[in-house]
Amino acid sequence: MINNKVLVLDFGGQYSQLIARRVREFNIYSLIKSYKTSIKEIKEINPVAIILSGGPKSVKNENAPKVDPAIFELKIPILGICYGMQLMASSMPGGKVKKAKQGEYGKAKLKIKNKLGLLKDIDNDTQVWMSHGDQVESMPDGFYNIAHTNVTEVAVMADIKKKLYGVQFHPEVLHTLKGKEILHNFLFVESKAKADWTMVDYISEEVLNIKKQVKNKKVICGLSGGVDSSVASALVYKAIKEQLTCIFVDHGLLRKGEAKEVRRTFSEEFNIPLIYVDGKKRFLENLKGVVDPEEKRKIIGREFIRVFEEEAKKVENAEYLVQGTIYSDVIESGNEHAATIKSHHNVGGLPEDMDFKLIEPLRMLFKDEVRKIGEVLGLPDNIVWRQPFPGPGLAIRIIGDIDEKKLSILKEADAILREEIRNAGLYRDIWQSFAVLPDLKSVGVMGDDRTYGYPIIIRAVRSDDAMTADWVHLPYDLLENISNRIVNEVKEINRVVYDITSKPPATIEWE
Ligand code: XMP
Repeated sequence: MINNKVLVLDFGGQYSQLIARRVREFNIYSLIKSYKTSIKEIKEINPVAIILSGGPKSVKNENAPKVDPAIFELKIPILGICYGMQLMASSMPGGKVKKAKQGEYGKAKLKIKNKLGLLKDIDNDTQVWMSHGDQVESMPDGFYNIAHTNVTEVAVMADIKKKLYGVQFHPEVLHTLKGKEILHNFLFVESKAKADWTMVDYISEEVLNIKKQVKNKKVICGLSGGVDSSVASALVYKAIKEQLTCIFVDHGLLRKGEAKEVRRTFSEEFNIPLIYVDGKKRFLENLKGVVDPEEKRKIIGREFIRVFEEEAKKVENAEYLVQGTIYSDVIESGNEHAATIKSHHNVGGLPEDMDFKLIEPLRMLFKDEVRKIGEVLGLPDNIVWRQPFPGPGLAIRIIGDIDEKKLSILKEADAILREEIRNAGLYRDIWQSFAVLPDLKSVGVMGDDRTYGYPIIIRAVRSDDAMTADWVHLPYDLLENISNRIVNEVKEINRVVYDITSKPPATIEWE
């Protein structure tokens, strides 16, 4: 049972997920909900504390997101961060927010007047991270100003009696050097939260829930070999054993050795009944001559559904379908735009109009928590730490039309890249690293001969949730090794280029 919940109300801030993750790092369960959540619903959630996130709007805008001021009377400790603090100030009697003469972006020193509440044991002049154009002009009745910076008069405000706090800086980012301690003070000292969120307890509870839900019915799972669907099926298997059948569709667009490895792990190490469908021919035939990326995705999605439905019929009375949906797929965000971009990714090509009841045992978890569950369940490292891989697979990493020859070139180059990244000890540290085969050729010289071959594009990015990503500054020696090996070992390739674009403006995949 989760007794302690911390509710993060999201006003569309770029760090809302990060706030929730920071709370969970203290082994306290946190959930993100839209700022529109009603007081009735908040009471039902019954959180031990509430955090109001930052957000891109100004509280002075007419259409700025607001909360019902009754929230401040619930007798629940509240921390407002940046926009959240300004909202707090402008929603309560006596409080006022103004446009600052000078915005404050980046590092600032916190001048602490009173080491109370949140600021207990925090050193004066500690570095905090600011990002705001508005500031609190006057605090609501009952609040004290307990810290300022050179630019911002009210950097931390507190109503100690009511346990309402506002911080103008972002305690959730690492650039706020004592951010963790400040959040710790808020959660454990002010809100009396308890650290009762552990992955072992989570597994036991989910196993019971799944047993209760499924009873003696049959369950199927579309397994892709990725972390999420693998962990979801291992968890469901723990609960209902052979009542679960996994369906693994090999569309021929997987990486070198991947199909074999997934089959081996699931049937040999876990004994999970697995239907393997060799769909290579079918998918390639359907993709023949198709160059448009969206068209490729549609064809793959459609074929995937067809194969899956055909195979599902063979599993008697399967009433339930397991999906590896994770928390970042389902967050009901204040930022509607971000929510829609994500929502397409979790379905993994499974039909939405299927007549199944869903089991989504990872719905409440972030990716790093899913990996922890995988480890506790004993899944091997090569599954738990597998980098995310898109449902349409290598089809969207071959620019232009796809054929067996190009697939084989890309698989070889990609395998070398993965091996070198692993040997350099960087595989886990990087969100995704992969090769892309473009639809062009260039001139080279090898031995004394002219070559006219494909270039290969190397892409490596760091990310927390794939919504934004930075290109990785791979060491030159490593890039040199990768380049040498690929041009020497894959004869159709005579040039290697490195993609040094972040997301935005690029996306992670090329198509
Ligand atoms: P982009 O290219 O949009 O990708 O920056 C963000 C993340 O999503 C993965 N991706 C997909 N995953 N089906 C999936 O299951 C898809 O159609 C798909 N397209 C992109 C991509 O690998 C990255 O992790």
